[in-house]
Amino acid sequence: MADSTAAGGLTGYGRTQRRDAWWIENLPFAIVLTLFAVYTTWRAFAGDYYWTDPYLSPFYSPLIDPEHHWWPFSPALLILGGPLGFRLTCYYYRKAYYRAFFQDPPACAVSEKKGKNYCGETTFPFILQNIHRYFFYIAIIFVAFLWYDAIRAFFFPNGVGVGVGTLIMLANIILLTIYTFSCHSFRHLIGGKLDCFSCTAFGPARHSTWRGVTALNEHHMLWAWVSMISVGLTDLYIRLVASGALRDIRLL
Ligand code: FES
Repeated sequence: MADSTAAGGLTGYGRTQRRDAWWIENLPFAIVLTLFAVYTTWRAFAGDYYWTDPYLSPFYSPLIDPEHHWWPFSPALLILGGPLGFRLTCYYYRKAYYRAFFQDPPACAVSEKKGKNYCGETTFPFILQNIHRYFFYIAIIFVAFLWYDAIRAFFFPNGVGVGVGTLIMLANIILLTIYTFSCHSFRHLIGGKLDCFSCTAFGPARHSTWRGVTALNEHHMLWAWVSMISVGLTDLYIRLVASGALRDIRLL
């Protein structure tokens, strides 16, 4: 919370003693996230051009009831809550969208709008952000499905091969996997909550894993950005190929 102490004793929205362009950091996030939200909403509700053998859009995976036997709407609407909930409750995204959209606070050491009324994540609805760990468990299931899709992308109707789409799907799931397993909750679960690795079961293995996850976690913001952009571009590529606007090039 950027109270008057953090803002150098100044009060009032946006007051600060900082001399740098602190507001610039919020702009790219606000623009990219807004574009991503608009594109994702359009694609989720559209319910078309999400599959062209052997490529399946990540927005529709796992594909449930594509023939509309019992679900009359877009299949994406059945599954998007999982990945969306994971991103919305992500520690990094929370910091970023609280600053960019809620201005609460606008930045470090910058006075915020609400002052004394700020309750943060101690009250409804933002207290629900604490279920992030459970979304992490759900995200692992999605990662498994997307790995299956990426492997499936090597199997074309006329045999095994590699297309541009195959490489795009592979790069996308690698980035999503790194983003998922660089999660702060995972780092906590794997060892961050321990005071003594040598006093616990599988201590050496947990310590090595924790060190690896920590190395990834240090760049969690980067993984959050590149994986978000890659998932959008993967869907866009598959949509263009499925609609006939673009021809997938077979490399092997
Ligand atoms: S903290 Fe970002 S995914 Fe968990």
